Amino acid sequence: MIIVTGADGYIGWPVLLRLADRLPDERIIGVDNFARRRWVEEIGSVSAVPIMTPSKRREKVEELGNVSFVEGDLTSKEFVEMLIKVYQPDAIVHLAAQPSAPYSQISWEKAVYTQYNNNVSTLNLLWALKENDMLNTHFIAATTTGVYGAPEYPIPEGFYEIEYKGGRDVVPHPHMAGSFYHMSKCNDINNMYLAYKQWGLNVSDVRVAIVTGATTEEAKDELATRFDFDFYFGVVTHRFCAQTLIGYPLTVYGKGLQGKPFITLEDCVESFVRLAEKDGSGYQVYNQTLGAVKIVDLARMIQEAAMEEIGLEVEIKHVPNPRVEKEEHEMVIENSNFKKLMNGKIKDLKEAIRDIFATLESRKSVIEAYKDRFLPKALLGER
Ligand SMILES: NC(=O)c1ccc[n+]([C@@H]2O[C@H](COP(=O)([O-])OP(=O)(O)OC[C@H]3O[C@@H](n4cnc5c(N)ncnc54)[C@H](O)[C@@H]3O)[C@@H](O)[C@H]2O)c1
Repeated sequence: MIIVTGADGYIGWPVLLRLADRLPDERIIGVDNFARRRWVEEIGSVSAVPIMTPSKRREKVEELGNVSFVEGDLTSKEFVEMLIKVYQPDAIVHLAAQPSAPYSQISWEKAVYTQYNNNVSTLNLLWALKENDMLNTHFIAATTTGVYGAPEYPIPEGFYEIEYKGGRDVVPHPHMAGSFYHMSKCNDINNMYLAYKQWGLNVSDVRVAIVTGATTEEAKDELATRFDFDFYFGVVTHRFCAQTLIGYPLTVYGKGLQGKPFITLEDCVESFVRLAEKDGSGYQVYNQTLGAVKIVDLARMIQEAAMEEIGLEVEIKHVPNPRVEKEEHEMVIENSNFKKLMNGKIKDLKEAIRDIFATLESRKSVIEAYKDRFLPKALLGER
């Protein structure tokens, strides 16, 4: 029995479909409260790729035979208690969260909401496993590479050795996140590490980079996953590709010399599935990334791909940076555990960009209709 939380989400939906296909003899339980659909509606945007309604999705996965979809809010103790007691999972792939940094920064309320939602959900799952004697469950959680901040040295995979005043130890890397959302993941990491140390729970802590791509083998066409391109929920690669398609200049924040880590949707999904197939072993950290690319180089990569793939010319425009971050940063990030999990084969970002162009070509009119959403609400005079 495997539970996938956040199964209606951008990553969760393709993970659910691949697990159902890869493990036909296993029961797969998808859990979601459909909050992501409401957040995107609230900020006045849409998924560029149409997705099925929750009830249609539930119907579709139930046709697969080994999947059930459960609606519920993980911040509810009663719901999580029921979930763990009834399904007794061997593994939990925990992908449910409010995942947007800019959304968490909108206001006091949104920051509190994000941390309450993300941290209480994770705490409820950890405590439900403990209280129901299920500490053998493999707890696989999506955290983020954003917890490391932007240090001026190569970022280790979770832990590093330090020497201080003659003593030496291996310690978790400090959390230097740059948003209330990213801080929620630092808090999750602290709580998961505590659950491992105090109770012996086996945790795979997957530091997810900026996920890029529109489809996987299973999640496409009618079974497509969502694709957001707005200021709040569209990651930079997705925004740039959407901007390209409608001839909107690529809006690079500041100088664009900040290195950021990326991963393709395909490798992201595949690695969660591989972890769910394995037993847990202590506290393992995976930097789920193909490496870092500077934002201005990313814009050039997309500009070139647009020319080659769809014959479109697009301009790059530098705009004042709405984020508080280093504008020049040489990010070097270690990923040997992740590489090992992927048998040394990690896909190129260009493949994901080609996939996005091919998928979004027919969706230009939706992007055009919502192009004001490339900008934050404050700039639009909205509250
Ligand atoms: N997409 C990325 O680039 C990226 C990068 C780093 C980390 N992550 C992490 O990966 C995970 C999945 O991200 P995603 O992009 O698929 O986001 P998403 O918003 O598409 O998926 C998250 C899902 O969780 C559900 N959810 C949220 N709170 C819930 C609750 N209290 N109870 C039940 N369901 C709830 C939402 O409705 C949504 O469907 C998240 O933990 C996110 O923080 C994503």
